[in-house]
Amino acid sequence: MPSLISSLRRARIVLALSLGLLAVGLFACNEAATTLRKSTYPPGFRYISPEQIQGTMWQLASLTDRLDRLTDDPARLDANRDEIEQVLRALESAADELKKEGVPANHPLIHANLDAYRGDVRAALRSVEREPPSYLRAAALPGACVYCHAN
Ligand code: HEC
Repeated sequence: MPSLISSLRRARIVLALSLGLLAVGLFACNEAATTLRKSTYPPGFRYISPEQIQGTMWQLASLTDRLDRLTDDPARLDANRDEIEQVLRALESAADELKKEGVPANHPLIHANLDAYRGDVRAALRSVEREPPSYLRAAALPGACVYCHAN
């Protein structure tokens, strides 16, 4: 029952993230994607299929969910440090993947906001890596989804 499992997974992720704005953002994204498909691409432009972006997005979403849990309890931050670093590195490669999928960027949202998001991921990773570590940026990172998922 792959469709049931994937809808349960989606529901869980979206709920866990408590991104009230996500629905609004997704609606806007879908509108944008619909408009995009109508336009013609000059030669050399690589079209990003919605499936490619969606796959990477669900990866971002589940990693962000994990990051949220790992940074939930201030008393457990140091114990979770290695895992937090791993998740941040995975987020960085997922964001890089999105960048690759979008070079040259043909999606206005991604073009405008992806670099800002990647900058936040890298800054969060550097703060966790340094001595002594700081987890503030990592804990705030789930909020960075609103670069693209807000009106
Ligand atoms: C650089 C812009 C950008 C950032 C940052 C971003 N998204 Fe997205 N997201 C998009 C776009 C564009 C789509 C719509 C893709 C489409 O359907 O064309 C999307 C779609 C989605 C979807 C729906 C995928 C589907 O199957 O339809 C989810 C879930 C999602 N994003 C979660 C997240 C989460 C969680 C974050 C933060 C970790 C995030 N996004 C950060 C641009 C972004």
